[in-house]
Amino acid sequence: MLSISVKEFLFWKKKQLSKGGDHQSLTFLLECLGGISTSDLNLLSIRTDGDLYLKKKLDHLESIWEKHLFNASPIQYLCGIAFWRDLKLKVTKKVLIPRPETELIIDIVSKIFGKQSQKLLFAELGTGSGAISIALALAYPLWNGIATDIDQDALDIATENYITCSNQTNLQFYCGHWWTPFESFKGKLDLAISNPPYIPKDTYEKLPKAVKNFEPEIALLGGEDGLNHIREIIQKAPLFLKEKGWLILENHFDQGETVKQLLIKSKFKSVEIVNDLSGVGRFTIGRYK
Ligand SMILES: C[S@@+](CC[C@H](N)C(=O)[O-])C[C@H]1O[C@@H](n2cnc3c(N)ncnc32)[C@H](O)[C@@H]1O
Repeated sequence: MLSISVKEFLFWKKKQLSKGGDHQSLTFLLECLGGISTSDLNLLSIRTDGDLYLKKKLDHLESIWEKHLFNASPIQYLCGIAFWRDLKLKVTKKVLIPRPETELIIDIVSKIFGKQSQKLLFAELGTGSGAISIALALAYPLWNGIATDIDQDALDIATENYITCSNQTNLQFYCGHWWTPFESFKGKLDLAISNPPYIPKDTYEKLPKAVKNFEPEIALLGGEDGLNHIREIIQKAPLFLKEKGWLILENHFDQGETVKQLLIKSKFKSVEIVNDLSGVGRFTIGRYK
């Protein structure tokens, strides 16, 4: 731990913000790498005397902050950490940074299944950092979960996150293309969830540098109209879901109606578009027969 006067630190902080960026990202960096919690940071402005302790030198933190500002590198990748719901997850450039809007998937599941403790089997397709599956496995310790990803590097991170966040054994990871690793679970799933790559090609080309230059293309791009993966997932879902099993999909802001029609065409019932907190039809859900 390195000791520094609060006055010197506050001067340094002001100087960093004068270069650009937002307060939230600098707070994130200071918490993750500097070892100062947000609440301690807030207290400093009313207690400017004395010293504080940092895990890293200010020069080091400054060099990371400048990488964030000048290369548009996401602060989560630079710190190797993302916060999602109440989870602290490892992230590298091999996985998508889990988004706050995706957090709502856990609330959708709770709304459908309540706080029921009875055993059920859920699957996640395209788990990335493992955020969704880990949150569900922790919230429902009696449930069993299986999660896939096409990328073994992403699965290694998801597995590490699961081990760090929990001491349970109710989640297993499989590498492969969408439903392929689930052959032995045909007709057995009570619930399947996916936040697949759904960005249409022309939108992908125009994404901000911070996304396009750093986050994995395989996690974002959904083909010409963005729906390649969603179509495939919906088409094969009836083989794997139990009767009355649920499918929950995240989609692009303008795909809700098309996804709804795809679900209806595949004989799903109770099909509904669910809005995110900004009122965008971000999720489409349905129940198989
Ligand atoms: C949008 S990211 C979602 C990651 C994570 N579930 C989340 O919500 O943050 C999509 C994930 O699907 C995975 N993926 C892409 N193509 C796939 C395929 N053909 N089969 C399985 N997973 C795939 C990517 O590697 C990526 O981790």
